[in-house]
Amino acid sequence: MKVGDEAYRSIWLNADGTSVDVIDQTVLPHRFVVRSLKNLVDAEQAIKTMIVRGAPLIGATAAYGMALAMSVDAGDTMLEEAHGCLLAARPTAVNLRWALDEMMAALKPIEPAQRKQAAYQRAAEICDEDVALNRAIGEHGLKLIQSIAAKKEQGKTINIMTHCNAGWLATVDWGTALAPIYLAHDAGLNIHVWVSETRPRNQGTSLTAWELGQHGVPHTIIVDNAAGHITRSGDVDMVIVGSDRTAANGDMCNKIGTYLKALAAKDNDVPFYVALPSPTIDWSLADGKSIPIEERNGLEVSQISGRNKHHGISSVAIAPQESAVANPGFDVTPARLVTGLITERGVCAA
Ligand code: MRU
Repeated sequence: MKVGDEAYRSIWLNADGTSVDVIDQTVLPHRFVVRSLKNLVDAEQAIKTMIVRGAPLIGATAAYGMALAMSVDAGDTMLEEAHGCLLAARPTAVNLRWALDEMMAALKPIEPAQRKQAAYQRAAEICDEDVALNRAIGEHGLKLIQSIAAKKEQGKTINIMTHCNAGWLATVDWGTALAPIYLAHDAGLNIHVWVSETRPRNQGTSLTAWELGQHGVPHTIIVDNAAGHITRSGDVDMVIVGSDRTAANGDMCNKIGTYLKALAAKDNDVPFYVALPSPTIDWSLADGKSIPIEERNGLEVSQISGRNKHHGISSVAIAPQESAVANPGFDVTPARLVTGLITERGVCAA
């Protein structure tokens, strides 16, 4: 997708042929900074500190992390160590395990001397595949948006609510939940997006609003607590969110706050769709109860960060110092609240 007039992916191979460049998502929308990951530790830290985030991009970065490791030492011990260290970087998005297992399957059976080249090749393929999957999700989701548009007065605004960031920044390109929105906007449909801020890290405000703005898609930022009210007011035609892990029965896990949006949608007969590529489906889990929920640092709740008047980025405390804080990063929405899953193969019941 575009930043200004320039086409970008969220991750790409540096011109030096070894390091891997990513957009630093911790400083958006205030600064656009590209960081070079030069080794395994850089890749692991980029995932841990959320320089990169979003389930598909976490997987793609881990794939390149394996390639970076193989460029230094392609032995069996390093192969296992790199897989283990990257797998532990974040717990909830199953795309991480999927991408690492893909890399293992490509690298383990071959001679160490061939592993570096094979690793870069498979990582690049994983990135290209992600772009194709998301584009296909976009096409299928576009048909849903078109069918909603067909029921409305010609040219009337179609209001879509989303949560967190499931756009191109969360994937290699296009996004999952935002792919249908981009295609609908480009097809000339009159789309408006309700962007919920997504406390505590505000990926809605800082990332989704930014990328929609770069593409010219009309949108409005709301605080998370306004989502129920706006859904009930009749100003939401559909909700589309992404997923970090979806169990075999269709229970879906996504950024904390998704469940509340699904409840509000159900109560108001608003369709609630989950856009996800097949690597986000964890067939090993019968239902959502055993999906690991990341518990993050309480400082994300007791403090808030943003651009200060000197144009630097700083944090301020907003809570009493002595108060306990809990910070679960994700929640599970039961399949019964999900109208449909939009995958690269089409739309199906959860
Ligand atoms: O904690 P994050 O920012 O990695 O969480 C991201 C989300 O919850 C996204 O909705 C999800 O990964 C789907 S991305 C296509």
